[in-house]
Formats: sequence, structure tokens, C-alpha cells
Amino acid sequence: MRTEYCGKLGSEYIGKEVTLYGWIDGRRDHGGVIFLDLRDYTGIVQIVADPVRTPESFVLAEKVRSEFVVEVKGKVTQRPENSLNPRLATGTVEIYAQSLKILNEAKTPPFAIADGEAVDEKLRLKYRYLDLRRPSMQQNLRLRARVAQVMRRFLDDNNFVEIETPVLTRSTPEGARDYLVPSRVNPGEWYALPQSPQLFKQLLMVAGMDRYYQIARCFRDEDLRSDRQPEFTQLDIETSFLSLEEILDFNEGLIAKIFSEIKGVEVPRPFPRIPYPEAMSRYGSDKPDTRFGMELVNVSDLFANSGFKVFSSVLSAGGKIICLPIPGGDTKITNTRIKPGGDLFDFVAQFKAKGLAFIRVREGNTIDTIGALKDSLTPEVSASLLERTGAEPGHLLLFGASDETTVLDYLGRLRLKLGEELGFIDHTKNNLLWVTDFPMFEFNTDENRLEALHHPFTAPHPDDVEDLAHARALAYDIVWNGIELGGGSLRIYQRELQEKVFATIGLTSEEAKEKFGFLLEAFEYGTPPHGGIAYGLDRFVMLLAGMDSLREVIAFPKTQKAQDTMFGAPSHVDAKQLRELSVRSTAPQS
Ligand code: AMO
Repeated sequence: MRTEYCGKLGSEYIGKEVTLYGWIDGRRDHGGVIFLDLRDYTGIVQIVADPVRTPESFVLAEKVRSEFVVEVKGKVTQRPENSLNPRLATGTVEIYAQSLKILNEAKTPPFAIADGEAVDEKLRLKYRYLDLRRPSMQQNLRLRARVAQVMRRFLDDNNFVEIETPVLTRSTPEGARDYLVPSRVNPGEWYALPQSPQLFKQLLMVAGMDRYYQIARCFRDEDLRSDRQPEFTQLDIETSFLSLEEILDFNEGLIAKIFSEIKGVEVPRPFPRIPYPEAMSRYGSDKPDTRFGMELVNVSDLFANSGFKVFSSVLSAGGKIICLPIPGGDTKITNTRIKPGGDLFDFVAQFKAKGLAFIRVREGNTIDTIGALKDSLTPEVSASLLERTGAEPGHLLLFGASDETTVLDYLGRLRLKLGEELGFIDHTKNNLLWVTDFPMFEFNTDENRLEALHHPFTAPHPDDVEDLAHARALAYDIVWNGIELGGGSLRIYQRELQEKVFATIGLTSEEAKEKFGFLLEAFEYGTPPHGGIAYGLDRFVMLLAGMDSLREVIAFPKTQKAQDTMFGAPSHVDAKQLRELSVRSTAPQS
């Protein structure tokens, strides 16, 4: 029977007999005496096998290698003064192995089971069970479990009920592609895996469940990034009869609890709120990182009569001139980087920028820039420009000129990139904020129609229902240091309004009935006003753990190509299986 975990042993155990289990982390042969590092998830402790004091275990200790699984019995003893190890939590003690049992041998692992080694991620994922043995991965997964526990406890204490909703369901429009599952017993018909439990949770409110939550697996077939996985987990919440203020306040309570219990940080409340139009105009992002300045400044009016062609042609086409002011940028950022072929030019060009105009502000507020721009600047315009952008000597002013959406997008991204590069971001800050007042819809140029910015079940602001296409939504996103942790809204709960919204996104009433008839019908049986939110649990844990990829906090994540390289998923299936499912593949045979 195990009496203790390795990492827990300290001076208070001296003299005690212990039985330990674990993996051999390392082995050192010191001229006759063998030292073994024994590791379990709590840490490492030193085992001593001595040819005189513990002759039996000494013989076995000669055989053990890294990652062998062993049982060790022995007495905890004080380490001699000259072999104390302050870097190890157990560094004051060691265990003379009265008995050492090899429970299982191990091949040499493809990478060292240790933190701080740069191991190719492909290899890590292929041998995920070894990767997860590393202390940091152990910590991340245990942190994840604790976060989920804090969430559950908080919600349970507030009378929420945890309810599971189906995974085999039909498509809900969260904006990504669906994962489909063919139905054997209904040939030609398909389930969709849920992109979120959105409609189920709303129907649970119709059912009078009042307060629901679920730690729910969601599936979205979308392009992967470091903060997106095809299968991810939401903390999904829905409530009845709460106002938007009450919902935000309650959620701040939940977030504050998580910060307090997990990070020991008391976050100030209420969280700031930034309306969407302001977030876009100041930060060029609907998830602003407010840990540093460098806010965007609209200077279109200053160039209304400009002789600078690049600007005037954009303005006459209805576009905007926006400035990104960079303190100290004059000496830190060279012209080569901004001009065609430069890395900053190439960076913004990916996001449809045609170029970056610049002004360098020198001593005495003199301006250095390209001739054509300089010629077009009157002293008044120069003075206004410096005043409005807060520019001082040493500033570099970068200018984007494009249609508004495009220019805000690429300058917002450039702001983040340069903020990081120039060390303006204070990484000790925890800036939590709500983005509110999203528009209900945005125009999808590919499909030439309006689409819901959140999802089509979000309620419009009551003052805006007369002009739905331009209405604000009663929606909110929670943002932490520039990353969207979660989002939600008050919902539509009246059939007529829901039908209007469906019509606005171009669904005919037949299509609306076919896809969402059950919801429209439910609205006619006494649906309470309701609203909720969903947090990306993986993202929340990633940020709490200080990691920069979701793969660090998911036990068995997918690669960039949505594969599980350890299991070999996805994989080919038998032709027979496909036949049973009434499915034929058109994929080229490899
Ligand atoms: P939304 O689509 O904004 O809202 O999702 C909520 C949160 O889930 C996380 N998230 C993801 N995390 C990892 N990988 C992904 N591919 C991924 N996609 C989303 C984000 C996001 O903020 N039903 C609504 C919620 C509601 O209205 O209550 C919904 O799903 O952190």
C-alpha cells in the first residue's frame, strides 16, 4: 500500500517507513552508491541504493532505467549537509531503499519527460501519454479540473441545475461548419454535432428549469488556430427572468470567484464596459486589449481637403484615414519595415492594407515624412494632427487609408503586434471588460446578405426594433487581456420577433419553419424572458495557466489539421460500414 506521494516528503517524515510508487526520473551512479529520482505527479524524491546498507535494492537499481515503474519501501532519512538540494521540494531528505520492486520496464522515451525541453509538438501529440507525464502538463490538467470545480460549486450555490443535452442533434447556426453523422436507421439523413447547446438551453427555460448550466462539448468544423479547436468545451449558462444588468453582475461574481480561488487575485468590479462601436474605433477590435495605449485615432476630417492623393482618393470613395500613434517609434521602427517588402508592410497587406503612410515627429515637433504627404500638410493640419494623436517628439505616426472595416482591422492587428514587440504590454495586468451594444447583423459580402453577428436568437435592443437591420443587440462578450472568454445575450422569446429576425437574415418563412419550427412553436406556450452566456472553458484555463495554446490544456487535442495523430483519427472506414450508413465516398482513393 502506498503510504505517501513522492513530492510530499520533507523533514517531518524523517525516521518514518514509507512505501512509494512512481516512475524513475533519473539515475546517477556515484561510485558504488546509486541515486534514483523517483517521480509521481506531486514531485520527485531521491532514493538511495547502497551496496552495504541496502544490498538487495542495489542490485536492482543497477538495472533500472528512466521511466521504469517501481515500488520503493524504505526509511526517510535526513540528507547529509553536503547533498541538500534547495531546488527540490523534497531536497532535505532521501530514502534508503530497503526494497525496490520493478513493476514494469520502459523503452527509452522519444523525448525527456521534463519541462523546459523544446520538443517538436508533433512528437508530443503522437506520444501524448508521455507528454502528459511532464510536470507542467500534469499541472495544467489538474488546474483545469479545479477551474471546473470552482465553476460548478459557484453555480450549484446559486441554484443552477446541471443538465446534459444531446450530442446527436441537428445543426444550430453558430456560424461554423457542422460535423455530420450519418443515421443508419434513417438512410440519407444526418445528425449534426452541436456547435453549442444554444437551442436546448433556451427550450429548458421554456420548460421552467429557471437556471441551467452544463460543461458542454461543442463541435465546429472551422479553420484552426492556437485558440480554436474543432471540439472544445463551453461552460454554458442560461437563466430566466434576469435583466441584462443582473446577468452581467452575476457573471462578474462567477469570474471574480475563479480569479480569487485559482489565482488569488481580487479583480475590481464592476468590470468596465465598452460599446462595440467604441471598441472598434479605439482599438480596431471587438475584443480590445486595454493593457496598453496606442489607441487608434480617426483623422479623416483633417485630410478632407488634402492634396495627398493616397488619402483624398480613399476619402472620396467613402473610406477613412486612421492613425496609429507609436510612442518612441521614430527610433525603434525603420522606414524599411514600413515600405513595400518590409515586414510591417507585409503584415498589414495580408489584411488588405494597400500601404502604410508615416510621419516621424522630431524635436520641436518638426515633421519628417515623404515629400507628397509633407507638401500637403498645412501648419494647422500638422498642429491638429499632433494634438489629436497626442504625438510628441519621438513618435511615429502610422496611417491606414481604406474602407472603415478594413482599416480598423489591420491597424488593430498592427497595434497588438507592435504593442507586444515594443514591450508596452504589462503582463501582470488582468484587464477584464464587457463589450456591449454589438450590432444585430453584419453584411456577409460573399453571400450578399445580412447575418447575425452573435446568433439569430439574440434579442434586439427594444429601442431599435423598428429598424431591425440596423438594430443593436442585447449581447455581450467578456474579454480578458484581449481574448474573448465568452459571449451571450438576452434572447428573443416572442414568435413574431423571432420570425422577423429570421426574415432579416434572408430565411423564407418556409425555411424558418423547416429549421426552427419547434422553437417558434415553443414560443407560443408561455416562454419566459431569458438570457445566458457561454464561456470557452479551454480558453479560460489556457489563460489562467499562462499558456498560449489550447493544446496545452486539453488532454487529447487535435492538431492544426484536426487530426488525432496518436489514435489516428480521422481514419478510413470499411466499405461495409459506409454501405450500412447509405454513404458513398467521393474522396480520391489514396
Ligand atoms: P460563442 O460562439 O461566442 O457563443 O462561443 C462561446 C465561447 O466559446 C469559445 N469558443 C471556442 N473555444 C475553442 N475553440 C473554438 N473553436 C471555439 N469557438 C468558440 C469562445 C467563445 O467566447 N451559444 C452561444 C453562447 C450564448 O449565446 O449563450 C455561443 O456558443 O471562448
